[in-house]
Amino acid sequence: MSYNILAPEPNKIKTPPGVKINTEMNALVYHGPGSKAWEKKPKPSLLEATDALVKISKTTICGTDLHILKGDVPEVTDGRILGHEGVGIIEEVGSAVTAFKKGDRVLISCISSCGKCEYCKKGMYSHCEKGGWILGHLIDGTQAEYVRIPFADNSLYHIPEGADEEALVMLSDILPTAFECGVLNGQVKPGDTVAIIGAGPIGLAALITAQFYTPAEIIMVDIDDNRLEVAKNFGATLTINSNDENIIEKIMSHTGKKGVDVAIEAVGIPATFELCESIIGAGGHIANVGVHGKSVSLHLETLWSKNITITTRLVDTVTTPMLLKTVTSKKLDPAKLITHRFALKDIIAAYDTFQNAAKEKTLKVILTSE
Ligand SMILES: NC(=O)c1ccc[n+]([C@@H]2O[C@H](COP(=O)([O-])OP(=O)(O)OC[C@H]3O[C@@H](n4cnc5c(N)ncnc54)[C@H](O)[C@@H]3O)[C@@H](O)[C@H]2O)c1
Ligand SMILES: [Zn+2]
Ligand SMILES: [Zn+2]
Repeated sequence: MSYNILAPEPNKIKTPPGVKINTEMNALVYHGPGSKAWEKKPKPSLLEATDALVKISKTTICGTDLHILKGDVPEVTDGRILGHEGVGIIEEVGSAVTAFKKGDRVLISCISSCGKCEYCKKGMYSHCEKGGWILGHLIDGTQAEYVRIPFADNSLYHIPEGADEEALVMLSDILPTAFECGVLNGQVKPGDTVAIIGAGPIGLAALITAQFYTPAEIIMVDIDDNRLEVAKNFGATLTINSNDENIIEKIMSHTGKKGVDVAIEAVGIPATFELCESIIGAGGHIANVGVHGKSVSLHLETLWSKNITITTRLVDTVTTPMLLKTVTSKKLDPAKLITHRFALKDIIAAYDTFQNAAKEKTLKVILTSE
């Protein structure tokens, strides 16, 4: 069977004149940079035997959705339903889906993966030849009443009985992203000094999951004092507002001029990546997490002799089953990242709150569908 992720979706299929679509739903639709609307769309249907149709119970908004709205991700075209995170209930499965059935409660991974291609076999689901990060990007996403999930067997997870579904929404993207792209790629070790640039949901999730490895110090940098305060409560040993202070000097003097062992970039702008280059110590790891829309300067004139490693990664979500266990066993409580709750139909107000994070003191918003 051939699979074409760009096969026409239901919303692209022309309805013959005189035929009324009676299966509509509401969804958050992207209409080009700076433009979005909560509007009617046809309810999706199964396109492939490996698909599942999921009725969304809870979803959220990601920093990446804001990058899309800024125009940083040009592959996202007018008419696309945004969103790549959420939990829901299976409405229907294709004939080849064996692990899920109608009525199952599921966690949706932000990465859809076939589990069979060369990249999937290496555990690099993000580069699945037929999937990867496609939800709310190349195919319609989860900020809707229903979503079609390709390769359901490999892209959904059963929600254990009694689990906190709001906490699990944090497992669709931000926890595996922060852990895989930041903590694992940064090779955080016991005793390390770690700097995390950006105390947004991803930076804070990196702060929480870095503590699996008992680093000696975690320095959090942001321009939002409220987020830095939250970071302190989540275990940061030093917080610095990069607007107020000479950030490089402060980190270098704090580390006895050595620099940090791990610098995690969790913003996605040139200034913060270049800050990581300035504060990295000999033998250190710069782990980029941010989605970048502009080129950054690589300062090899200072870095060439420092034995450093720079990593980039699109989240693979290979650690989701492990993270799910840490959450259901209450070793990790990502629900503490949730600050605001809205009905799904009020998603435009939720975007406003998420976009004005400093004023509204927003971290993650939860949107619940009735
Ligand atoms: N690599 C991946 O697979 C992947 C997956 C998901 C998200 N991301 C990216 O990770 C990044 C973080 O995501 P998020 O949801 O936490 O985003 P966010 O926008 O909520 O958080 C970014 C934080 O950076 C801070 N910031 C902005 N400018 C700064 C500066 N000059 N110095 C210090 N801090 C500054 C902001 O105040 C904010 O707290 C985004 O770029 C997002 O697109 C990457
Ligand atoms: Zn995301
Ligand atoms: Zn694959």
